[in-house]
Amino acid sequence: MKKILVIHGPNLNLLGEREPGVYGNDSFEAINKEFVEKATQMGFEAEIFQSNHEGAIIDKLHESRKEADAVILNAGAYTHYSYAIRDAISAIKIPVIEVHLSNIHARDEFRHTSVIAPVCKGQIAGFGKNSYYVALEAVKYILEEQS
Ligand code: DQA
Repeated sequence: MKKILVIHGPNLNLLGEREPGVYGNDSFEAINKEFVEKATQMGFEAEIFQSNHEGAIIDKLHESRKEADAVILNAGAYTHYSYAIRDAISAIKIPVIEVHLSNIHARDEFRHTSVIAPVCKGQIAGFGKNSYYVALEAVKYILEEQS
């Protein structure tokens, strides 16, 4: 069974409470539950990981190279400046899909830059919690093409 790892970066544990006008009212737990249900229905195993710490995200990306077939990554604000996370993505061979709930290109100028985008398979942004589910569909096509 193919395994998908979802990595949520800083402050995403507060989804539902945090700026609901930007990120929606659904809780972090509810979004993950729906993700796991959808992934299971599609025949995937899913693991969810969240950390507010850059190094922990890097360690998890390293682990994923042996433990997962694809990664869906919302790196939160690290997206915009973490060369260390970018290098970790470059260091692993499995596809990493960049995800954002909000449309980062329609927000503050500093959010328009993603330093991880060039080393990710693709970017999905702006669909609220559905960005994660669109990413799941994308992973399905990527893994089908690989096999
Ligand atoms: C985010 C967008 C980032 O700019 C922000 O720092 C986040 C969340 C999103 O999902 O829309 O923490 O990654």
